[in-house]
Amino acid sequence: MQISHNIALESFHSALLCWYHTYGRKDLPWRNFARDGSCAYEIYISEIMLQQTQLSRVLESYYFPFLARFPTLSTLAESSEQEVLHLWQGLGYYSRARHLHACAKLCAKQHNAKLPDDLRSLQALPGIGAYTAGAIMCFGFGRVAHFADSNIARVLQRLTAKPLSQKQILALAKSLLPQDHQVFDYHQALIDLGALVCTTAPKCVSCPVARFCASAFKPIASKPKSSKLPLTLHLAICKNLDSIALCQSQESLYKGLYNLPIIAKDSQAQAPLPKHRLLGSFTHAYTKYAITAYVYEVSNAHLPTTLLPNMQWYPIHNLPPISNLAKKALRYF
Ligand code: ADE
Repeated sequence: MQISHNIALESFHSALLCWYHTYGRKDLPWRNFARDGSCAYEIYISEIMLQQTQLSRVLESYYFPFLARFPTLSTLAESSEQEVLHLWQGLGYYSRARHLHACAKLCAKQHNAKLPDDLRSLQALPGIGAYTAGAIMCFGFGRVAHFADSNIARVLQRLTAKPLSQKQILALAKSLLPQDHQVFDYHQALIDLGALVCTTAPKCVSCPVARFCASAFKPIASKPKSSKLPLTLHLAICKNLDSIALCQSQESLYKGLYNLPIIAKDSQAQAPLPKHRLLGSFTHAYTKYAITAYVYEVSNAHLPTTLLPNMQWYPIHNLPPISNLAKKALRYF
């Protein structure tokens, strides 16, 4: 088997696995569970959390508290979406939390409160795409599967030095699979190689597979400028004794989470509104948006009436799950 230019696949695997045994992050908790399906849930939670969040944040503040509160798919299914969102506060990409909850409910109904152990049924569940399904099969059930997250995809693209479509990346991933008993470590090693060595600015001198790589030591095209979309949000801090007004977001951006009332928004960078008392402003990156937020003190009487149906008062010391955006804005409280 060759990687595209006469390379023995076995030497590629052994170079990668040898490096992993010395430099890989083998102590990560989700790399040390049983691989017989009994811990597929713990793997699932780790993969969902790691999708868009830095590993250190997941590990330090979210993974174990989540598993302590929801130790099984059944406990997750029996909870309320609000409670799941509460534990997810600060992790961002809240649709992940809503999907987890919906997935647990479906598994309780259709799969005996377990994650199914086939790719197709996994991918039919909310929030589980091709990557997560493959990762659950491989890391949770110890099965042979091929998949590529952003780290793996970057490594594979660099190996060939060709722009590859997602389909081509998956075909390459499949063609590079090692023997059954190595697939677990092999994929964890590829993830680590992408995260630690084959990074945006790759460290080819430290790469165990540089000799197999068509991009090794070649200059990397400069990074494209941030493609985040500008969004200006004007947020109201509206007080009533010890309480503040919050709106439960109906839009997909923060769906289900509570936010400060948004009194105006614009898809362009905008100056503050002159008619309210400005308390401060800050920038905030969220999903595909580069948000500029202005925070105002607004009296109840001056809130737009369109907000009132979704607005409720909450004591400042007992708030429901709020977005990081709202947390930052409340520094001006
Ligand atoms: N990112 C996604 N999956 C991961 C894993 N299993 N280990 C470390 N980082 C990851």
